[in-house]
Amino acid sequence: MNVILLGPPGAGKGTQAKRLEKRHKLVQLSTGDMLRAAVASGSELGQKAKALMDAGHLVPDDLMIAMISDRIDQPDCAGGFILDGFPRTTAQAEALDSMLAEKGLKLHSVIEMKVNDDILVGRITGRFTCAKCGAGYHDSFQKPKEPGVCDNCGGTEFKRRADDNEATVRTRLEAYHAQTAPILPYYSDKGVLKAVDGMAGIDEVTDQIEDVLGAA
Ligand code: AP5
Ligand code: MG
Repeated sequence: MNVILLGPPGAGKGTQAKRLEKRHKLVQLSTGDMLRAAVASGSELGQKAKALMDAGHLVPDDLMIAMISDRIDQPDCAGGFILDGFPRTTAQAEALDSMLAEKGLKLHSVIEMKVNDDILVGRITGRFTCAKCGAGYHDSFQKPKEPGVCDNCGGTEFKRRADDNEATVRTRLEAYHAQTAPILPYYSDKGVLKAVDGMAGIDEVTDQIEDVLGAA
């Protein structure tokens, strides 16, 4: 099963992708995480992407399309994957269709996570992740059970993203509305788009996604 999670910054794509990974044995393909790894490694891609990401702008389509195509070819994706953060432009959506056709793969569902802009800044500026295993948390909405200790791996170090400040979030939201939201009609015309209420609590959103996956 190959699924796309589509939604603005802070919609909960990463949170829900991690849950789908565990429940359905799918691989989360987060282009944001891949780019952050490239930045941390200092690779050529990372050097090209860093300033754009820090400012909240999108990384060029050709780089993203090549990166995701290579990743889908890796053996761990054979059992299915969740695209989190890709596609983000019409050019990426069209390129994804071509690459899936070439690779003999199909899309099961495209799930839009609908969230109002006004709550996204709070979600993003309160976010942090475990430095060891990457589990995601929030200062108010998703605290570790024991303060300072990761529920998943027991790690005690946490980190916050360089682009998780209010000014950058506003630019990322503008990019979402200008460049990413226009791909919603592309998928609704194909009959694969389903929406969930991303304003609901984290567990309820998971239930809605499970309903979509079960029904499709
Ligand atoms: P990326 O890493 O994809 O960031 P994003 O799209 O801005 O989305 P986020 O990761 O910020 O949010 P999320 O939806 O995953 O929310 P989360 O689950 O963490 O991309 C970063 C940058 O990389 C881009 O700006 C761009 O520069 C570049 N890039 C990446 N892909 C690209 C592409 N394809 N093309 C071009 N450039 C690309 O949740 C947020 C917080 O809210 C968490 O703390 C969580 O605990 C909490 N939360 C989640 N759900 C709920 C809920 N239902 N209720 C309450 N709290 C919740
Ligand atoms: Mg994310």
